[in-house]
Amino acid sequence: MASGFRRSIACQLSRVLDLPPENLIKSISAVPISRKEEVADFQLSVDSLLENSNDHSRPDIQAQAMRLAEKLKCDTVVSEISTGQGTVNFKINRELLTKTVLQQVIKDGSKYGLKSELFSGLSQKKIVVEFSSPNVAKKFHVGHLRSTIIGNFIANLKEALGHQVTRINYLGDWGMQFGLLGTGFQLFGYEEKLQSNPLQHLFEVYVQVNKEAADDKSVAKSAHEFFQRLELGDVQALALWQKFRDLSIEEYIRIYKRLGVHFDEYSGESFYREKSQEVLKLLDSKGLLQKTIKGTAVVDLSGNGDPSSICTLMRSDGTSLYATRDLAAAIDRMDKYNFDTMIYVTDKGQKKHFQQVFQMLQIMGYDWAERCHHVPFGVVQGMKTRRGDVTFLEDVLNEIRLRMLQNMASVKTTKELENPQETAERVGLAALIIQSRGDTGVFLQYTHARLHSLEETFGCGYLNDFNTACLQEPQSVSILQHLLRFDEVLYRSSQDLQPRHIVSYLLTLSHLAAVAHKTLHIKDSPPEVAGARLHLFRAVRSVLANGMKLLGITPVCRM
Ligand code: ARG
Repeated sequence: MASGFRRSIACQLSRVLDLPPENLIKSISAVPISRKEEVADFQLSVDSLLENSNDHSRPDIQAQAMRLAEKLKCDTVVSEISTGQGTVNFKINRELLTKTVLQQVIKDGSKYGLKSELFSGLSQKKIVVEFSSPNVAKKFHVGHLRSTIIGNFIANLKEALGHQVTRINYLGDWGMQFGLLGTGFQLFGYEEKLQSNPLQHLFEVYVQVNKEAADDKSVAKSAHEFFQRLELGDVQALALWQKFRDLSIEEYIRIYKRLGVHFDEYSGESFYREKSQEVLKLLDSKGLLQKTIKGTAVVDLSGNGDPSSICTLMRSDGTSLYATRDLAAAIDRMDKYNFDTMIYVTDKGQKKHFQQVFQMLQIMGYDWAERCHHVPFGVVQGMKTRRGDVTFLEDVLNEIRLRMLQNMASVKTTKELENPQETAERVGLAALIIQSRGDTGVFLQYTHARLHSLEETFGCGYLNDFNTACLQEPQSVSILQHLLRFDEVLYRSSQDLQPRHIVSYLLTLSHLAAVAHKTLHIKDSPPEVAGARLHLFRAVRSVLANGMKLLGITPVCRM
């Protein structure tokens, strides 16, 4: 087992250090490859070892590393032991490394890296991931897009690790905007437009009614009344609202499908209209709710009146707010799913909101509040299309597909594509999902397609057996070393819930593949060498595809 190397190093160390191997495994890491020099395969950081022990004196770690290295011996697995900056370095027997890594990649397939000892002892957890959560009739902005991408990634990764994941889309489907929409639809709505293009039409109505309401007090008043009717459960008003919601969800589902995203539950703020009232009662009964002179009700989280710690939970007319509904939703989800972890993915503008919600749950006596986590992200660039600022996700998807089709048209092989639209869509999505560095997403797709065509050209005839001795040039070794690290990258992403570790890993992998593609020829090489190289390329493609899929990208085979 590729990751088994760590265990076998840990066993040897355990004898010398008199610590159980389990405690050592996570201190041993695969060494990132370097362009400049040949590196060892694994290293043990003496520093991290000291963190494990109770020895806080921290004597010179360099001397410690040397002393430790002297006590260790090479064996059938480890062929060389050396020291670096506070580390003991291990080089694995080259043939063993090659054979083990390649066999493991092929054998484990989509599970490669996920079965690593880094994840051993991991029990199956119930995880709720709430993400995307756009507001009906309002813009689907870049924050919602990032939330969709990151949340989907987190859910994919947790699922791949064997956890039971529930994906929730918590729609902004309640509030004054529906008062405006209700009134606006009566004034400027068209049933046919609503049916054929709900998101667009509702947005148009919303924009128009907002303008009217600004000039005409009676429109504003009737919007207010409409919302009041909704809050009071008026059947007719609710029926119209329900229609807006249902049609919007239908359209959302269709668009998310294009993105390769699905949800187990379409929830929303509207679900918690009544439960919010229960939350208010509960808070009150615990003496946590304070009435203000304005007639609103607040919770003072600091206990000393510090205004930044005061959270309003009820308006003067008795209705709930965003935070109240989040309290009700969290409690409801606990009842329903009994989750071990709940993750909310939004832009970092909502950091304080979630801190306060979690803190309120805590003081209400829900000790599971500590199982709730907010994953914030920064939003850098806005979404723009040629028509200007983006309102609809579908416009972004269409535009990026068109752009990809135009790019691809200049490439010869595109003409032979069976379904250029679909390929353009997949490549475009890759670009959209990985917005970090220029065209990383496109580059990954390109690399995948290229590796795939290698296999197609040369077939799998060579693949049954291969000679490890044929993969000892530096380009091959770098690839093997990099493949060896995949489990650590997955582990890191699973800890901090950030996709960037995987993104940069795949980028490096693709660069390595490009170099190897240029130098490690297949065509004019003896069968033995060609076979071994094909094997290596196939392993690269497999890991590349695994990583892409976790990120939510469907790899293409041609482009
Ligand atoms: N609909 C909200 C917005 O667009 C995001 C909801 C985030 N989730 C939550 N439970 N508050 O800002």
